Amino acid sequence: MSKTILVTGGAGFIGSAVVRHLINDTDHTVVNLDKLTYAGNLESLTSVSDNARYRFEQVDICDAEEVKRVFSLHQPDIIMHLAAESHVDRSIDGPGEFIQTNVVGTYTLLEQARAYWSVLEGEKKDGFKFHHISTDEVYGDLPHPDEVAPGTELPLFTETTPYAPSSPYSASKASSDQLVRSWLRTYKLPTLVTNCSNNYGPFHFPEKLIPLVILNALAGKPLPVYGKGNQIRDWLYVEDHARALVLVALEGEIGETYNIGGHNEKQNIEVVQTICSILDEVKPKESKYAEQITYVQDRPGHDMRYAIDANKIERELGWRPQETFESGIRKTVEWYLNNETWWKAVQDGSYQGERLGTAS
Ligand SMILES: NC(=O)c1ccc[n+]([C@@H]2O[C@H](COP(=O)([O-])OP(=O)(O)OC[C@H]3O[C@@H](n4cnc5c(N)ncnc54)[C@H](O)[C@@H]3O)[C@@H](O)[C@H]2O)c1
Repeated sequence: MSKTILVTGGAGFIGSAVVRHLINDTDHTVVNLDKLTYAGNLESLTSVSDNARYRFEQVDICDAEEVKRVFSLHQPDIIMHLAAESHVDRSIDGPGEFIQTNVVGTYTLLEQARAYWSVLEGEKKDGFKFHHISTDEVYGDLPHPDEVAPGTELPLFTETTPYAPSSPYSASKASSDQLVRSWLRTYKLPTLVTNCSNNYGPFHFPEKLIPLVILNALAGKPLPVYGKGNQIRDWLYVEDHARALVLVALEGEIGETYNIGGHNEKQNIEVVQTICSILDEVKPKESKYAEQITYVQDRPGHDMRYAIDANKIERELGWRPQETFESGIRKTVEWYLNNETWWKAVQDGSYQGERLGTAS
């Protein structure tokens, strides 16, 4: 049955992939609630924004009255909560905005969802779900292969790994996850949580590692790599994440947590070198793109390794990523080559172009 799904942060990188997937591949109605910070771009939604099942509300999740108005007007069946401040380096420079949006904003949304849900009746009440979208960074970091004896089996994050966030960003996400779980336990608000590894793909704001490297490479600028570049991330193509999120929102069990990952552990330097080799092939120039790689001082508190055990979502809901890292990164490089209008418009906005590209 067709539902109304309210997506917070639907103009962001992952949120816009969720909105495009819901409009293109399902018959559900989407309400995109987004404040449109520097990271929110309605240009990422031009392919679906004329659809009769799409609505947009420019609202800050910290504004309780506005959130209440949107719930009452659109009567959502499911809330998919992605709105957040998401860039670790920005959280180190200025944590206040992260506490405000990620913690206070999630609290505000939970309270408004509770007030809205508590007066629903019948099937509408029984079917209601609040799906909170989070990150694997809440778990802290894992032993790196360089730190353990050869042959040692390396651990992965599971749904029961204790939280040990390292940055203001991950600490604010960890706080919001715990608020969501406590609203279920205390008020019985039907919530579920997903924790995902690093995403990459089209419409990614060019302050993050992969789009920044692609665009700096094309512009002949240095390709900044933190420390030795040996930090490991588990990369997932954003459209695979969007499919997983919609599956969890529709079919996940209330009270459960699902880890989502790409089975693609890569060192940052490998990611940068792969992008350089694809560009050497599809957009050759006199010198090799890898010559632009520049090592810069490491980020304070930088986590060395993230890796997800995504067995539960596969076993219980039948989800697996469709892209390998090799296929997804090639699609991503080609997308940036073919979509200059999008990234030029995004860069002309508040993006200053000077920040370091980071894996998350
Ligand atoms: N990017 C990743 O690799 C990754 C991995 C795992 C989980 N996540 C989580 O997924 C979610 C989306 O991440 P993303 O990379 O798409 O982020 P993003 O920064 O690209 O987008 C965030 C969106 O939220 C909106 N927003 C910010 N503050 C808001 C507020 N106060 N009210 C309403 N809207 C607001 C922004 O305008 C933007 O559209 C986040 O919760 C993030 O923690 C991201």
